[in-house]
Amino acid sequence: MTAKDRKDKANRHFASDNWAGAPPEIMKALALANAGHAPAYGADEWTARAVKLIEKQFGGNCLAFLVSNGTAANVLGLSAMLKPHQSVLCSSVAHILVDECGAVEKCTGARLDPVPHMNGKIMAQTLEPFLLAAGNQHQSQPAVISVTQATERGTLYSIDEIRALSRFARKHGLRLHMDGARLANAAAALDSPLRDFTRAAGVDVLSFGGTKNGILFGEAVVFFDKNLAKDFPWIRKQGLHLMSKMRFIGAQFEALLRDDLWLRNARHANAMAALLRAQLEKIPGVEICFPTDINMVWCRFPERAIPKIQKRFSFHIEDPATRMARLVTSFDTSKADVMDFAAVVKQAVDGK
Ligand SMILES: Cc1ncc(COP(=O)(O)O)c(C=O)c1O
Repeated sequence: MTAKDRKDKANRHFASDNWAGAPPEIMKALALANAGHAPAYGADEWTARAVKLIEKQFGGNCLAFLVSNGTAANVLGLSAMLKPHQSVLCSSVAHILVDECGAVEKCTGARLDPVPHMNGKIMAQTLEPFLLAAGNQHQSQPAVISVTQATERGTLYSIDEIRALSRFARKHGLRLHMDGARLANAAAALDSPLRDFTRAAGVDVLSFGGTKNGILFGEAVVFFDKNLAKDFPWIRKQGLHLMSKMRFIGAQFEALLRDDLWLRNARHANAMAALLRAQLEKIPGVEICFPTDINMVWCRFPERAIPKIQKRFSFHIEDPATRMARLVTSFDTSKADVMDFAAVVKQAVDGK
């Protein structure tokens, strides 16, 4: 693939929002942070400013730590919440369960208990049976509920649904963890400040995603219950995510949060998914699978059309049995990309 090919708009795909690079604001921030030397391991000015900006987004009086990827944010955040004899209730399609290669189990020793979901969401009223093990010395003890906001199916928990999960957790002595790899998309879709559906709704520990929102690499673990953060500097170091050149994550987060770049990126990605869905809905033979709340459209294409579409655009068929395709838009997806994709789908479905 040549540099020219890479620049070509036809080279944008719908496989995932982490297939995109980074916008110029982020590259500029990285270039500026690259001048001269700076203290390592997060003792630099960029990290200090980024952490402050993140904490401010959630109303202050919380503690944010930078790590380099989303799996680490989840695994390390959960490590601060769990003992090896405990368990986590999460949806049966949760990224921590399905797509982190057992990292949570390996690093915490705790068990993940899959809970049936509706469009990616678990509901407080279905959790009671999962507490039957409580007090039984032979069984893992439920300690954490983990939700993904926005979900792996591209849907959103309402603030009330998160509150209900938090009430349930508190009533039964559990804590609430949130995988917010796409938290920015959720905020844009809910048209709500980040703190309203995290901290204010009762979340204790949050993975706050940057990578899918337009930075090259970087996520934050945010502790609203500061007691849980007590050992986190060591958990992060032992967990291999105390980056020596942390300033390059800090600089990116700072640029992302200043002037609401994060929100503009998320709004744009969501709008492109809405447009994509609207175009696909017009094509007979394409079946939409879930509500499209954020920057993700789930659909089924006729089987024979799939290779033709994939010749031109990459996307994942998440489940070969059901043929469900996951299409993800990014901060840099253009209207032209969406219209090109829809035209290719139409042709492929029509057998051309
Ligand atoms: C919901 C969710 N959580 C966590 C992650 C993990 O991110 P990473 O691939 O950076 O480890 C992803 C990435 O796809 C994700 O979709």
